[in-house]
Amino acid sequence: RGFSTSSLLLKDIKHVTVIGAGLMGSGIVQVAAQAKYNVTMIDTTDAALENGKNIISKSLKRVARKKFADDEAKQKQFIDETLQYVTLSKDIEEAAAKSDLIVEAIVENIDVKQKLFAQLDKVAPKDTIFCSNTSSLPVTQIAEATSDARKERFAGLHFFNPVPAMKLVEIVRTEKVSDEVYTDLADFTKKVGKTSVSCKDTPGFIVNRLLVPYMMEAMRVIDREEASIADVDTAMKLGAGMPMGPLELADFVGLDTMKFIVDGWEKAGSLDTPLKESQILNKLVKEGNLGRKSGKGFYDYSK
Ligand code: NAI
Repeated sequence: RGFSTSSLLLKDIKHVTVIGAGLMGSGIVQVAAQAKYNVTMIDTTDAALENGKNIISKSLKRVARKKFADDEAKQKQFIDETLQYVTLSKDIEEAAAKSDLIVEAIVENIDVKQKLFAQLDKVAPKDTIFCSNTSSLPVTQIAEATSDARKERFAGLHFFNPVPAMKLVEIVRTEKVSDEVYTDLADFTKKVGKTSVSCKDTPGFIVNRLLVPYMMEAMRVIDREEASIADVDTAMKLGAGMPMGPLELADFVGLDTMKFIVDGWEKAGSLDTPLKESQILNKLVKEGNLGRKSGKGFYDYSK
């Protein structure tokens, strides 16, 4: 039907717009600029844009010092060259009209996000890919604000804080996301220096689906007065090899954010209990695949 090969449907991403110049948005702008994408960083006020630019400048200085240890001229050149790829703007519609990829990183509020994407859907080219960096809202629900055609080009692109340092991006595929769009996003994340994993649009995706119940159980240990805060963190760092204890990690995430996520999932009835039986565990044990000691478990150790 007019398409000769499927590869023609792949999009050559050149211009990226990131909406929201906060902690996450500025990080996404930075890694995209370092990968030589032309990036427009959008926010609603000059102060917010200035804040984003300061975050990027500080972070780039750190990257430059690492890259070119003793060479200040090269450090400066790297920073200046990277910043040349970044444009600051408050004009969403103008930026959207020339964007191949739009990544949203504004407040975690479904109504505000839907309103933004409804506006973007009207002004962006038909083939522009839309992404949300949401941590806790269903991507499918955010995408409902857009046309049916756009829903095939609307995915979650979940970066981690701090973006320049964290290697992972979760690509969230709703039921509608096309294979081409997924491939484009996997390619984009690779070019910005990250490893991507693919996951369905379920609460917490992969990382938070596992991490949040773990952190909540740590808080319940405190509720039950079974150990002190410091001892819970020490125990998980030294006994389980975690780089940060769960309560320290909760402080890093922000306790309001933790509560927002957990309350949202609870209200949606999203989580079953963590110790419920697992079919894969039952099956592997029944087969005698007990892990390393039997040569096979989730992975094959026989070779
Ligand atoms: P932030 O509060 O640092 O930044 C949000 C920015 O968006 C602010 O500069 C604000 O002025 C701007 N903004 C708000 N409404 C806007 C609108 N309608 N149009 C344009 N700009 C608007 O927030 P943060 O932490 O960067 O989070 C952004 C998104 O990323 C949220 O969806 C959050 O759930 C997600 N996220 C946050 C992580 C984190 O660790 N903070 C990790 C992964 C995802």
